[in-house]
Amino acid sequence: MMNIYIFEDSQTLYEEAARQVISLVRQKPDAVLGLATGISPLGLYRVLIDDHQKNRTSYQHVTTYNLDEYLGLAPDHPQSYRHYMHEHLFTHIDINSDHTHIPHGDTDNPPRECRRYNELLTGTTLDLQVLGIGSNGHIGFNEPGTPFDLETHVIALDEKTRQDNAVFFAQIDDVPTHAITMGIANIMRARTIVLVAIGAKKAQAVKQMIQGAVDNSCPASVLQTHRDVHLYLDIEAAKHLS
Ligand code: GLP
Repeated sequence: MMNIYIFEDSQTLYEEAARQVISLVRQKPDAVLGLATGISPLGLYRVLIDDHQKNRTSYQHVTTYNLDEYLGLAPDHPQSYRHYMHEHLFTHIDINSDHTHIPHGDTDNPPRECRRYNELLTGTTLDLQVLGIGSNGHIGFNEPGTPFDLETHVIALDEKTRQDNAVFFAQIDDVPTHAITMGIANIMRARTIVLVAIGAKKAQAVKQMIQGAVDNSCPASVLQTHRDVHLYLDIEAAKHLS
């Protein structure tokens, strides 16, 4: 059963989703977190930073693994997910940067980099995985059609995904064509999943994720089979739910 929470106000949504992360870290200071990028988790990260500053929740013993990274972007590229995590979370909390893991987008050997990252993941258990959802139903960069049993792999990005993400780049041609992503098998091994979806652009994917058939035309539909999933939706993202 999916736990679904619908909010009128996005700030309350971010606070509630962040509360789940914060209470885990307080109960288990060496928690292992799976992290996401994109617009959706930004508000959640702001609440974590605020709480760290006000209430001193510590991330000193926390370890993190990010879902994905664009292939071809160096860590200091302004649109790399390494740069995003640095800017929007890591520099504002007391996490040890040696404990933060993101696939290397500038690798000259993507299959080897996938194996390296996947070995890190199989050697640990994610206590909680933060997710967004693509407008085409992707999670991480597992695009429609990706088999559910794949682990970390290289993916060719959908045209839809490249268009959605073009807002962050000067022009569409600058959006990488490929990425390294955790597979759905990796994501599904997380003990708890917290997914954030905001806005009407996500409404169709959200409906398919919750009320559609479990198949890889909507990768997020696999979450129907996870035993501890929490979906934080705003009214617009939830508007097609019956
Ligand atoms: C991106 C990321 C995903 C993210 C999704 C939604 O491309 N690879 O991890 O969840 O697409 O992004 P946004 O939150 O910006 O809509």
